Amino acid sequence: MLFATRYAAAAASKRAFSTSVSQNAAKVAVLGAAGGIGQPLSLLLKANPTISHLSLYDLFNTPGVAADLSHINTTAKVTGHLPDNDGLKHALTDASVVVIPAGVPRKPGMSRDDLFNTNAGIVRDLATACAKFCPKAHVLVISNPVNSTVPIVAEVFKQHNVFDPRRVFGVTTLDVVRASRFVSENQDSKPEDAKITVVGGHSGVTIIPLFSQTPGLKLNESDIQALTHRVQFGGDEVVKAKNGGGSATLSMAFAGARFTNSLLDATVNGKKGIVEPTFVKSDVLANEGIEYFSTNVELGANGVENIQGLGDLTAYEHELLKAAIPELKKNIEKGYKFVHGN
Ligand code: NAI
Repeated sequence: MLFATRYAAAAASKRAFSTSVSQNAAKVAVLGAAGGIGQPLSLLLKANPTISHLSLYDLFNTPGVAADLSHINTTAKVTGHLPDNDGLKHALTDASVVVIPAGVPRKPGMSRDDLFNTNAGIVRDLATACAKFCPKAHVLVISNPVNSTVPIVAEVFKQHNVFDPRRVFGVTTLDVVRASRFVSENQDSKPEDAKITVVGGHSGVTIIPLFSQTPGLKLNESDIQALTHRVQFGGDEVVKAKNGGGSATLSMAFAGARFTNSLLDATVNGKKGIVEPTFVKSDVLANEGIEYFSTNVELGANGVENIQGLGDLTAYEHELLKAAIPELKKNIEKGYKFVHGN
């Protein structure tokens, strides 16, 4: 009798536990998970209750990172995978989201395009594995140069007949995170409340902040020019300060987690009206021959749901756009040619 009562109490408490676990569950894979971005990004993702399984892949050290994260008392199971024993296949199978921060970062004096020779091949190979092992996953590309690596992923997916433009994203979130922070410093306002639209690509002059689209900002012309330059080249501040130790990792992890969590809210948790900027296949500048472009994008059950346009631009913003177009075109073409040859 006593045993039966105890059993009933234990069963009830087990039920209480199981109902507290999110019913929405997603496997998220991080490729490059042992790196400067990969580790803090994985830490932040471990806190998201929607993630039931966080699988970490890198060339080294993922068993250690996974063991460490697996002690945190949040929902996600964490597994670490290395290239041997079909590690990449196991990391990717059943993943609904794949985040890719694999590759080399910049050193002082380098542009993002200088990373192309190393990172293009890494991203191509990882995209090939995604096409084989999780062809329906949403793929979030952090590896630079994003303006070229996103077209690489898209072209690899096309070769495998699995390209869905709603599911391939270049992560440009750090540009809006920086813009919000820098504007709030200038305006003495709360950084969380400074919503700044940034469009274009993710390198230097292709990054176009549209301060005119945020109501209530008090910025004169020289403020706008200085802030625009700082948003475009903010990454250089970090590269310089790290003095050979790499580029932004912690702020990038924050930005990458924000985008991943937004995508999971839209795709898994069914939340509506979620808007994030991201570099995707887009018609916004189709008349200029630009196939990929970052604007605010509404995310839905299948990923990209509604690509918002540019809105009204000031003369200065038009000039920025004009300067971005040739560079963006060149970067996109470079990614395309890498996959298809010249
Ligand atoms: P990191 O060198 O600290 O880490 C990169 C990781 O990728 C390393 O652990 C390395 O072992 C791994 N890796 C290399 N080849 C791999 C492969 N074939 N498969 C799996 N893993 C592989 O570099 P960090 O600082 O984490 O930067 C990573 C990338 O993110 C760089 O390309 C960087 O330019 C880019 N980045 C992008 C930003 C964005 O806003 N989209 C912002 C900051 C950096």
